[in-house]
Amino acid sequence: MVIATSSFNFTCIASSTANLTWLRMEEANGDLQQGELVVEAFVTIIAVSIVAFWLMKKGNKTRQAAPLPPGPRGLPVIGYLPFLGIHLHKSFTQLARDYGPIYKLWLGHKLYVVISSPSLVKQVRDHDVTFADRYPSTASKIISFGRNDIAFCPYGAEWRKLRKVFVRELMSSARLNASYVLRKRHVEKAIKDVYQKKTGKALDFGQFAFMLISNTVLSMLWGSTAHGEQGEMLSSQIRGVAEESMVLQGAPNISDLIPSLARFDLQGLERKIHVTFRRLDQIVSSIIEERRKLGEGNSVGEEAKDLLQVLLDLNNHGDYAAESSITDNQIKGILVDSMIGGTDTTSTTIEWTMAELMQHPDAMQKVHKELDEVIGRSNAVEEFHLPRLHYLEAAIKEAFRLHPALPLLVPRCPTEDCQIGRYTIPKGATVFINAYAMHRDPQLWDSPLEFRPDWEKGLPRDSHGREDAQLHSSITAPLIRMEASSWVDRGGFD
Ligand code: HEM
Repeated sequence: MVIATSSFNFTCIASSTANLTWLRMEEANGDLQQGELVVEAFVTIIAVSIVAFWLMKKGNKTRQAAPLPPGPRGLPVIGYLPFLGIHLHKSFTQLARDYGPIYKLWLGHKLYVVISSPSLVKQVRDHDVTFADRYPSTASKIISFGRNDIAFCPYGAEWRKLRKVFVRELMSSARLNASYVLRKRHVEKAIKDVYQKKTGKALDFGQFAFMLISNTVLSMLWGSTAHGEQGEMLSSQIRGVAEESMVLQGAPNISDLIPSLARFDLQGLERKIHVTFRRLDQIVSSIIEERRKLGEGNSVGEEAKDLLQVLLDLNNHGDYAAESSITDNQIKGILVDSMIGGTDTTSTTIEWTMAELMQHPDAMQKVHKELDEVIGRSNAVEEFHLPRLHYLEAAIKEAFRLHPALPLLVPRCPTEDCQIGRYTIPKGATVFINAYAMHRDPQLWDSPLEFRPDWEKGLPRDSHGREDAQLHSSITAPLIRMEASSWVDRGGFD
């Protein structure tokens, strides 16, 4: 009450003082006409406004947003689209030579920014929340069960929940150790098959690696659901549909590039995506249903659970707002992410490692020597041997460097304008990180195109030209350690 009264008084005092001043001025300049005073006041106000406006503009100018990155000109409407080859990462690497480590290009009505230097990538990582969202193309939106998976879920509570489930529940050491026997069995069987049926004959190694990895990943996902012939059939159906979805997600879609044309679905892609998605959904739903029926009254010990069972148990919490409970669509999204993200990437990397070793007999000999020394001729390689197989690890990392399975990672989409380097990346742009270009950058690596598992000769150099082992892993890290797990390492869940 006291405060209200005094503030009222203050207002009154202020206004009466002003009135008095005005009155006194009039008295002192009795010869001035009232009209002249008004004009004078008006001129003063205008002058003050002009100065204030000028100061504001000047201030704005100094704080003006950084410009957009440089970039090639394209054609009206379609932008740079007709000038890109089918290998996007190679075209982007070529463009970086002309426009530098950060540049923009318009494809249709969409703005793309391509980044290809480790220091700029570090800046993107420093703004990890702004860049946490992925660009959801029409295909990705559908295949990810409406952005209910890990890769395309918008940043927020659900984003955190899905990553937490994936890293802590599914990919924890305990869980991976529990499925060790499963992986061992698949590897043994595959090697035995080659030994018995293929000795002395040609072997399609890519196909061999793909079958081995997809059988292993699928049995880790829902191992106990389908066995024998039925299991084989299911696996081959899933492989077909997963491959189709990957192709459809990778195809440039006019509807995404020129949204005003989306309703016409000019390439018929959206229709095809829906067909593939329905098949995918049918398969995954039937696996879940079957497990639910089996699961009733048939509880499995924690150790023996496959990933599907872990997800279903989280789903059974029922309270979807709870910290770790997940919906049916989220279960499907995680399963499909693991199926699509885990098979082709791994088998392609294995195939490239083998191809490089076959092309480099010296390196192959060193791998053999190390295997002989660490394991011996009469034992099989086991997962627990891996930390001692340093040369093999270096060879695999070289394959990661030269032949990254996802050369442009998964494109990001900033949720607000952000300055990277000297440039602004506007909200909603699609941001590619060109790992392929960095992995082959002659400013970072000696003889970057050579396969050099002998690290002491092949290390990248830091900004002072010193060779730097740490830099090697920081550049190849996104391909070796997934974003989700590094986020957890940095304490993102606490
Ligand atoms: C050699 C094997 C693999 C390679 C080269 C690889 C590569 C990648 C890359 C480059 C990304 C994108 C990272 C980014 O944009 O920040 C990624 C994301 C992802 N990968 Fe892999 N991956 C491999 C194996 C796997 C496996 C075995 C699984 C699951 C079973 C998996 C599941 C995922 C998931 C769920 C994401 C999305 C993570 C996120 O959004 O943060 N990947 N992977």
